[in-house]
Amino acid sequence: MKPIRHLRFFARGAAVFPVLFGLAACGPQPTLQVPAEYQLGQKHFHRICANCHGPDAMGKTTKAPRLIDAEYLPGNFPDEEIRQTVIEGTGKMPSQRAKVTDGEIAEIIKYLRYSQKSAGIVEDPDEEEDEEDFAAVEDAVSPESP
Ligand code: HEC
Repeated sequence: MKPIRHLRFFARGAAVFPVLFGLAACGPQPTLQVPAEYQLGQKHFHRICANCHGPDAMGKTTKAPRLIDAEYLPGNFPDEEIRQTVIEGTGKMPSQRAKVTDGEIAEIIKYLRYSQKSAGIVEDPDEEEDEEDFAAVEDAVSPESP
């Protein structure tokens, strides 16, 4: 039954990988060098948003939240919501309406989405799945004797 155990091990390894990836995403580093199609958005972001959100939207040491975060992925914070935030402001963020055109906002959003993706941010993992995966790691580390 050896080959079958190996197969199961591989199947579990595949399940563990996204969790490790998720852990690595705790300190995501977006690339400063972005492909040509995102450079316009990056430029506008630096001009308008970076003062508060940090040069790469990493926040953390700045007064505004990091946008390269699972909280702001499309599933949790859609493009339209970003657009509205920029135009209307929210809580402690003043409206940026006077500084950006709709086209520029669209470019900024494109750039932010790219940064989120390239930083390897994933949607909040399901807690139950997490537990299963950690159980699988334990099992893989100390498999029952044959
Ligand atoms: C003057 C500082 C400042 C500038 C400039 C600024 N922001 Fe913000 N932003 C903030 C603060 C502060 C918050 C947190 C708001 C709060 O907690 O009420 C925030 C929050 C946000 C949020 C999250 C809103 C939420 O409801 O969670 C988004 C998205 C955002 N900003 C995008 C942008 C973008 C894109 C730009 C550039 C076009 C920008 N911001 C420019 C200060 C700023």
